[in-house]
Amino acid sequence: MFRIQHLFLLCTTLVGVLCKPNIILIITDDQDVRTGTLDFMPKLKSTLAEKGTAYERFYAPVSLCCPSRVSLLRAQYAHNHNITYVVGDFGGYQVFCEKGHNDKYLPLYLQRAGYGTYYTGKLMNGLAYDQIATQPPKGWTHSDFLVDPNVYLYYNASFSSQSAAPVNYEGQFQVDVVRDKALGLLEEALDPSQNGKPFFLGIAPTAPHLEVQIADGQFTEPVPRKGQEGLFEDVKVPRTPSFNAKARGAVSWLKNLEELNKTEVDYTDHVYRQRLRVLQPVDELVEAIVKKVEQAGREVSDNTYIIFTSDNGYALGSHRRMLGKTLPYEEDVLVPLIIRGPKIPANKRNKDDVYSMVDLGATILGLAGADVQDYSVDGKDFLSNDRGVAKSKPRHALVEYWNAAVEEGIYARSTSISNTTYRSIRVKDDTGSEHDWVYGVWCTGERELYDLKTDPYQLHNLARNNNPETFSFSSPHTTRVASRLDALLIVLKTCVGETCRDPWKAFNVPGFSYSYSGSLSGALDPRYDAYFDSMPRFAYNECRFGYLEDIESPTWSDDLAFRR
Ligand SMILES: *[C@@H]1O[C@H](CO)[C@@H](O)[C@H](O)[C@H]1NC(C)=O
Ligand SMILES: *[C@@H]1O[C@H](CO)[C@@H](O)[C@H](O)[C@H]1NC(C)=O
Ligand SMILES: *[C@@H]1O[C@H](CO)[C@@H](O)[C@H](O)[C@H]1NC(C)=O
Ligand SMILES: *[C@@H]1O[C@H](CO)[C@@H](O)[C@H](O)[C@H]1NC(C)=O
Repeated sequence: MFRIQHLFLLCTTLVGVLCKPNIILIITDDQDVRTGTLDFMPKLKSTLAEKGTAYERFYAPVSLCCPSRVSLLRAQYAHNHNITYVVGDFGGYQVFCEKGHNDKYLPLYLQRAGYGTYYTGKLMNGLAYDQIATQPPKGWTHSDFLVDPNVYLYYNASFSSQSAAPVNYEGQFQVDVVRDKALGLLEEALDPSQNGKPFFLGIAPTAPHLEVQIADGQFTEPVPRKGQEGLFEDVKVPRTPSFNAKARGAVSWLKNLEELNKTEVDYTDHVYRQRLRVLQPVDELVEAIVKKVEQAGREVSDNTYIIFTSDNGYALGSHRRMLGKTLPYEEDVLVPLIIRGPKIPANKRNKDDVYSMVDLGATILGLAGADVQDYSVDGKDFLSNDRGVAKSKPRHALVEYWNAAVEEGIYARSTSISNTTYRSIRVKDDTGSEHDWVYGVWCTGERELYDLKTDPYQLHNLARNNNPETFSFSSPHTTRVASRLDALLIVLKTCVGETCRDPWKAFNVPGFSYSYSGSLSGALDPRYDAYFDSMPRFAYNECRFGYLEDIESPTWSDDLAFRR
């Protein structure tokens, strides 16, 4: 009988269309772009960046681990999967299962598409050994997850391999353990007994996240590998314009932040160095994986995508903040994305296109030829379906948050900050005049508008929030821009599927769509002033934790579309 495995065997011995690619995803934890962490990873540079493309406008859809990881695993915005926090009623593995996502997510679709699926490291917050025993993550051919309560410990991590009891790696460096397990899984996936079956391998060390003592919720500095404690002694957090600076027109709790004092700044620099140190073994891990793929021969290495990313960014002193994430600033949401693989240009930096984690999820599904029939995928498959499109075109990313903001480390001023629910969009359009905006609305009623072309560090809020009820903008031009962006945010905040990929179409104006050029430029035409001025503005009734639909308005419907 001609069985499916024989097809794969055939595939690896022929060059061509039959072959489904292997996909290796390396995902770090809390690794930002803005403080230049990638510059300290030379092996990553030589083995991935120089052999592939770096996507420099790649965003976390929520600046928090669990929601962002679920957005990747479901190729969906958090307003649709509704995993909005790391623990409690609104997020974590338990809620992931309760909402049925454990039956409908990436590895299951990959398996259906003929893939072997492998994973080691952190899948998402709240995965503890007892859950692995009772309701394990589905869809994995072979997995070995980091599990609570020792997920974030560098020298005493616990792993649990499917139904086996958890194993503690006391005295061994967590990233090295992840590396060795990943190499083992890779060996298994490449084994001749698999008949060349395509595979997905997820590798997720928790570096450079702080250590978290789950029992008491303490966040403490990362612990470097023995022998690397003295590296980078003179390095400090880059003093970018946002470092320890307050934005003009800062909003919510940020407007009351005092400058960090010397003790706090020194601590921030110290934690930065600790982060760089624990990224060194990650750098080695990347090289080891690439080497092993290359050693498997051209047939394998020419048909394998290797993706490097992180779940969310990280702020160290920017906007006067202590350590942490959760906010709609580039420090928090811009994350690395480097991809090497078939047809990906080598040594290229893509600065034009704006993508998000939901798009990466959709891209992995697309590369695997995997179908999702259970729900609408929000992300855009930017490698399979997007080739040959003009380089300059409008782009957007949605960033959402509904829970407490968190400060981390020993000088955290608060570990649960209220009034931090917001929705924010990035919109770029370089077809006509150049646009690169961040627009956001907070549950307090405050608005933010930043022009990233002139203000890449988000230090000049062009919205005036003296009275949230009567906000205004800095000029007639920014008022006009904000009216369009507010309307676009209303479309995006409840978008599903195609509307998330091309939100301009929702307005029902013939020229507004990514299949035409210049949606924002087009929408700024004064003939649409009356329409956008009449649109109700997006607002929250109150600040509460969790994504609660009835405290946000308006909800987009066709009634709000343009009528001639
Ligand atoms: C390592 O973790 C295990 C399980 O949580 C614990 O029993 C053990 O005491 C820990 N070892 C150290 C040195 O903290
Ligand atoms: C600086 O901040 C730290 C931590 O918040 C505090 O303990 C210390 O007293 C402050 N130092 C000065 C000189 O204000
Ligand atoms: C939250 O925002 C509301 C409305 O602006 C304000 O009345 C309240 O004092 C704020 N609460 C905190 C804890 O900042
Ligand atoms: C999101 O989940 C929370 C907790 O399960 C629930 O209270 C809330 O209503 C959900 N939101 C939406 C919009 O479905």
